[in-house]
Amino acid sequence: MIVPYSGDIVNAVYVVAVLAFILGLKAMSSPETARRGIVYAGAAMLVAVVVIFLQGTINNLAWIAIGIMIGGGGGWYWARVVKMTAMPQMVAVYNGMGGGSAAAIAAVVLLSSIGDHVGASLSLAGAIIGSISIAGSVIAFLKLQGWMPSKAIVLPARQVTNLAVLAVGIAIGVYAVVTVNTAFLWPFYLLLVLYGILLTIPIGGADMPVVISLFNALTGMAVALDGFALVNGPLGDAGYAMVIAGTLVGAAGSLLTVLMARAMNRSIGNVFFSAFGATEETGTEMKGSLKPIDATDVAVLMEYANQVIIAPGYGMAVAQAQQKVKELSDLLEAKGVPVKFAIHPVAGRMPGHMNVLLAEAGISYDKLFDRDEINQEFAHTDVVLVIGANDVVNPAAHRKGSPLEGMPILDVEQAKNVIVNKRGQGKGFAGIENDLFYRDNCRMLYGDAQAAIGKVVAALKKS
Ligand code: TAP
Repeated sequence: MIVPYSGDIVNAVYVVAVLAFILGLKAMSSPETARRGIVYAGAAMLVAVVVIFLQGTINNLAWIAIGIMIGGGGGWYWARVVKMTAMPQMVAVYNGMGGGSAAAIAAVVLLSSIGDHVGASLSLAGAIIGSISIAGSVIAFLKLQGWMPSKAIVLPARQVTNLAVLAVGIAIGVYAVVTVNTAFLWPFYLLLVLYGILLTIPIGGADMPVVISLFNALTGMAVALDGFALVNGPLGDAGYAMVIAGTLVGAAGSLLTVLMARAMNRSIGNVFFSAFGATEETGTEMKGSLKPIDATDVAVLMEYANQVIIAPGYGMAVAQAQQKVKELSDLLEAKGVPVKFAIHPVAGRMPGHMNVLLAEAGISYDKLFDRDEINQEFAHTDVVLVIGANDVVNPAAHRKGSPLEGMPILDVEQAKNVIVNKRGQGKGFAGIENDLFYRDNCRMLYGDAQAAIGKVVAALKKS
């Protein structure tokens, strides 16, 4: 039998949960403690949910149990089977689910108490943000999964159309609240979902990190707004939990959006008004030729280098080559060649992707340098080994009119010798050519990263 708990106990439990959320977020800021952070935050969420049930004010327990089983079971299964490289798509879907849930909760509040203008206004705001977030996240998922072209889809009169859809959608929602008429909620939701789609399709591949973190922040804000709307209702305490969790997600997501936007050299205003990703691909002729090199020659070059800088990218993650990379780094250091790692903030497919993989392989943090720290070193370095990176080392970013224009890159082309490991002539996520590969100082070490780096390791062991 469910025993109703006193308000004080419930509030005390919420305070504990909130502290655990904050500690969890703090721990997630470093790869070393991130796992602990996930456990803290997960436990806090579990406590916050359980305490709501213990209050004994919940109806429809069977439906809720079915929902939890479907959602919890699905989440548990997908989190277990998802590959590390597919993590961003999963994050996009989960963001979308959060936004969709916020929009659905707002719908319940609007349908049941549209006459309460304060609650209805807050729910309306939650519904707007949540609907945009779920629609945009689904498009981000489709692009990241490769089920939709990742490059920008630019419709004619895009800005005017988008603004009109958003304005009409919001106007209909406000009209529904003012006239206390729930029949207008359908067109309101449809237009907001349409706006989320229109907002996201013109965003090109390389800008996806900003998009994912922006929708993450929006989802948090939508949940917080719903929480405010619920606070006055019978589930007031559940509302507090949503306000706190939503605010934390919104704040952390906003910070991440700022960091990602900085990494891409885009302003936040640019992000919010969707003027980004609109540049069309410009065909640029590649001058020179691709010059292959074999593993033995790479080993010799490295052995006599003043220092080696390794620039990893998405291909290293796909190939799961981090252990081989660690072996390579250890061997070179044993032979007296200093090794550093150049980490681009959007290398791979999720924030911190490279840091996590290299940490997992046991590569010490003091060998990892971010772009600003290492860029001036390339010019004085004998060998740079690019492993499965493309966009983040593409000098097209320095070219006017390129879709990557303005994106700060790792300036590896300044090194004496650049070795690029990739399987063939595949383009990067942004889908544009990379003239680095054709330059005089660049050689191509073809092959899957794990196998190719394995061969370099074997050659170094023999020498
Ligand atoms: P990419 O530009 O995506 O290039 C990866 C390269 O790896 C490809 O050109 C591919 O060429 C090669 N590759 C694939 N599998 C390989 C394997 N098994 N072995 C060796 N090479 C392999 O990667 P990047 O330089 O890391 O840039 C990341 C891109 O993703 C940026 O555009 C970024 O904006 C975007 N993005 C980033 C994030 C975050 S937050 N990090 C999220 C979403 C999108 P081959 O096919 O010829 O092998």
